[in-house]
Amino acid sequence: MTDAVADAGSDVTVLDDDPIAGVQLASLRDHTTTPEHFRHHAQRLGSILALRAIQGIPSERREVMSPLGAAAAIGPGATIVAVPVLRAGLGLLPGVHDVLPTALVGMIGLERDAETLQARRYYFKVPPLDGAWVLVLEPMLATGGSASDAVKALDAEGAEQVTVLSVVATQQGIDRITSENPGVRIVTAAIDERLDDNGYIVPGLGDFGDRLFGTPH
Ligand code: URA
Repeated sequence: MTDAVADAGSDVTVLDDDPIAGVQLASLRDHTTTPEHFRHHAQRLGSILALRAIQGIPSERREVMSPLGAAAAIGPGATIVAVPVLRAGLGLLPGVHDVLPTALVGMIGLERDAETLQARRYYFKVPPLDGAWVLVLEPMLATGGSASDAVKALDAEGAEQVTVLSVVATQQGIDRITSENPGVRIVTAAIDERLDDNGYIVPGLGDFGDRLFGTPH
């Protein structure tokens, strides 16, 4: 696992030598993987990314009664909110809920304005975020524009910690998100070489949303 510090105050974790994440990523990349199996591997990888992203969350101590007596117990001491960026981010949500079942959910819809080429928010609904640990689910960090916009919006709502969960990123996307959002964290399964002329990550895995939902590209 690479813990790369992109610049002061930023925190980027790349799970590129984690074989458990790697096996899921390999299946997501494989062009023969069907949508049914793509959803399965996205779910598994969502769990792995979420467990890494939540490291360091404050804990809350309590007591639980076992059949033989009182035992000390701990749990998360902050609200956890998962925010998929529509629509690809929905693929990671079931896996996040598998390991963080009490996570609340917000949603962000972003589309690129054809004239300005800037991300435009067409949908934004989140629970109260004061003090929350927020996981932004954005599988493909290409230019980083959508994720960076999402992080800004969530920061403005009072989130304590914002972490972007990504499957495949580019260095360019990571640099944009970290330079525009001091304090943000990124956890990604891989950093790939480059973007092609259509904005796709190479080698990447293609269009995550299309492959997740079986829509023709
Ligand atoms: N979005 C995708 O789904 N795939 C890419 O390669 C880039 C952005």
